[in-house]
Amino acid sequence: MNDGTVNKSRRRFLIGSTSVVGAAGAVGAAVPFVGSWNPSAKALAAGAPITIDISRLEPGELLGPMPAWRGQPVFVMRRDEAVLSNLRDNTSHLADPESKKEGQQPEYARNEFRSRKPEIMILVGLCTHLGCSPQLFAKVEPQDFDPNWKGGFFCPCHGSMFDLAGRVYRGVPAPDNLVVPPHYYVNDNVIVIGLDAENS
Ligand code: FES
Repeated sequence: MNDGTVNKSRRRFLIGSTSVVGAAGAVGAAVPFVGSWNPSAKALAAGAPITIDISRLEPGELLGPMPAWRGQPVFVMRRDEAVLSNLRDNTSHLADPESKKEGQQPEYARNEFRSRKPEIMILVGLCTHLGCSPQLFAKVEPQDFDPNWKGGFFCPCHGSMFDLAGRVYRGVPAPDNLVVPPHYYVNDNVIVIGLDAENS
């Protein structure tokens, strides 16, 4: 299921990999470039950490091409103040707003934004119901599936909904919040996904 929000988000997926440094805008015209440095395919298959650069990720954008860790898509988004305030204030419809359930996030992401840095969202992009990849509907606006939609991810196969911190709605098939993968910041713009700290 798509709407303008999804299409816009897809158009704004950022393009890049080490091998195509400088190939900004390979798809579409105004797509900014974000470099990412990935280990070999063999290492990736074994679940090695991945390193991504978010220096050109703008508020409201999802990083693209979608990083993958252990063969799983990873959603990386820069959230703005309005989103953060929404996450802070709108929790009554959530099943586990305080991330009490173990195993869905590292300890450092057990907070209202489920992240090390409030503005940067990092989630494994797989629904905790049957593993489909939920779609982004970032805007606060009525949707067919929820007239009171506050922005987040919607899984069209059986209607699970998550907010922009990956917190699952109450009463949907998905039992848990989306997983926050282990990660750490090398600096403000470079993130390693797959390890909790540099010396882990
Ligand atoms: S896999 Fe998402 S609702 Fe079923």
